[in-house]
This record gives sequence, C-alpha cells and structure tokens, in this order.
Amino acid sequence: MRQDNATDRDPASLSGRTAVVTGGSSGIGEAIVRHARQRGARVAALDLEPTSGADLFVACDVSVEDEVRAAFEKVDDALGPADILVNNAGIAPPGRFTDLTTRSWERTLAVDLTGVFLCIREALPQLRASGDGSITNMGSIAGRHRSLTANAAYAAAKGGVIALTRQLAHELAPERVRVNCVCPGLVGTEIIRRNVPENEQADLARSIPMGRFAAPEEIATVTCFLASAAASYLTGAVVDVNGGLL
Ligand SMILES: NC(=O)c1ccc[n+]([C@@H]2O[C@H](COP(=O)([O-])OP(=O)(O)OC[C@H]3O[C@@H](n4cnc5c(N)ncnc54)[C@H](O)[C@@H]3O)[C@@H](O)[C@H]2O)c1
Repeated sequence: MRQDNATDRDPASLSGRTAVVTGGSSGIGEAIVRHARQRGARVAALDLEPTSGADLFVACDVSVEDEVRAAFEKVDDALGPADILVNNAGIAPPGRFTDLTTRSWERTLAVDLTGVFLCIREALPQLRASGDGSITNMGSIAGRHRSLTANAAYAAAKGGVIALTRQLAHELAPERVRVNCVCPGLVGTEIIRRNVPENEQADLARSIPMGRFAAPEEIATVTCFLASAAASYLTGAVVDVNGGLL
C-alpha cells in the first residue's frame, strides 16, 4: 500500500493520501475538501469555479473528456497519484417534466452522470496502483425516492449514479478499489437557495423529520469516513444522510 499506514494510528486519518474532489469549490464539495485536509490528505479540487481552499485547484468541466484527462495528469504531477476520488460536482435544475428541454436533459446527464464515468475512468489507473483506492459518488435522495427540489433529469442521473456505484463496487473489489455512494436529503447550499423560493425554505426544512436542512459538514464527515481505513471493508454501500426523510 502506498499510504503510510494510517490504520495503525487513527483509522479515520487520511494522512499521506491524495484525494480528488470534483465540485470542490462550493457547498458540500468545499466542506469535503476542508475535512479531508484536516484529516491529513493532500487535496485537489476540480471545478469550473476557482477555490483557494485546496492544495491544488484544477479548472475542469467534468463532462469534457479532454479536460478530465488533463486534470488527472495535473493532479499526478503536483500531488502524486490519487488514492481517493470523490465525484461530487453536480447541477440540479428545477422544474416539471413537461418543461424539460432536450438540451437541459442532456446537460444534466452530462455533468451528473457522464462526469462521474469520465472521472472514474481517468482516475482508475491511479486508484488501482494505490492498493487501497476509494471512490465515493455523491448521489441524492432524488435517485432513491424522488427529487424535492430538482427536475426529472436530475433524479434520473442520480439513479444512474447509484446503479454505477453498485456495478463498479462489484467489478473493482478484486482490484482493491472500494466504491460507495452518499445520498444526501436536503443540504443548505446554493442548490436549495437557487431552487426553493426563500419564503418556502422554512416550511421545507420543517417537513424533514429532524426539522432542518443538513449542514455541508454533515455530508463531508460521512464522505471522509467512507474514504478512510475505518471503512476498509465497506464497498457498494448507498448511505442515506437525510435527517429521517425515509
Ligand atoms: N444541496 C442539496 O440539497 C443536495 C442534496 C442531494 C445531493 N446533492 C448533491 O451534492 C453535490 C454538491 O452539491 P451542492 O449542494 O454542494 O451544490 P453547489 O452548487 O454548492 O456545488 C456544486 C459544485 O459543482 C461545481 N460544478 C457544477 N458543474 C460542474 C462541472 N460541469 N464541472 C465541474 N464542476 C462543476 C460547481 O461549480 C460547484 O462548485 C451535487 O452532486 C448535488 O447533486 C446536493
């Protein structure tokens, strides 16, 4: 294994590991970058928007093959090969199915599902070489039940992310690459602020059994756990983090 043996010390440590977080400049991704660094990882954020919170920022549209390929080369050059990939970048357009255009459908699938495929494909040689690789995909309650704030394209893409997670967990387990999925319910980020009118947000929060939106940190801690040695036998899991929205 390439990592210094974190298991001997603290199983939640990410010390000595290189992590790539897509969509790491905002919301949940920004919190994951912060937590992973606090736990000792060197972290690259791949995003359309810049951030100064990571060890390395790479401008990258996850839906564009050449940009994804170049981004993983940059990560390898600057931080060393990736041990951890978090596929978090996403868009969540609102609206009803009858208003959904082909263009919007294709863009949502391109970012939320094809982007996950492209990043995994480019990261895989690095993750295999790790000897203890981990992929965590950001799903959603939308892919488990239905979306509360976004449209049908988003729900379909997140359903695809869950299916991809399970398939790859099975295929990659012999190569010592674990693949898991986190499914948040409603998290207080730009997606909620954009999709839910301000005067409806309090009612929406009250409809959650725990009575509030998640903080991004509450998704980040679970994501970092899944990437750590504390979850070394956990693969193919779809972990709901939704305050009781069953
Ligand atoms: N906020 C919620 O309630 C919620 C619930 C369930 C799942 N999620 C999922 O969590 C993830 C993060 O969402 P968030 O709430 O932090 O949203 P956010 O809008 O705050 O962050 C999304 C990030 O992804 C980046 N991004 C968007 N398109 C990209 C692209 N093509 N290439 C690279 N980066 C791109 C954005 O620039 C942004 O930094 C998404 O996958 C989202 O679907 C969010």
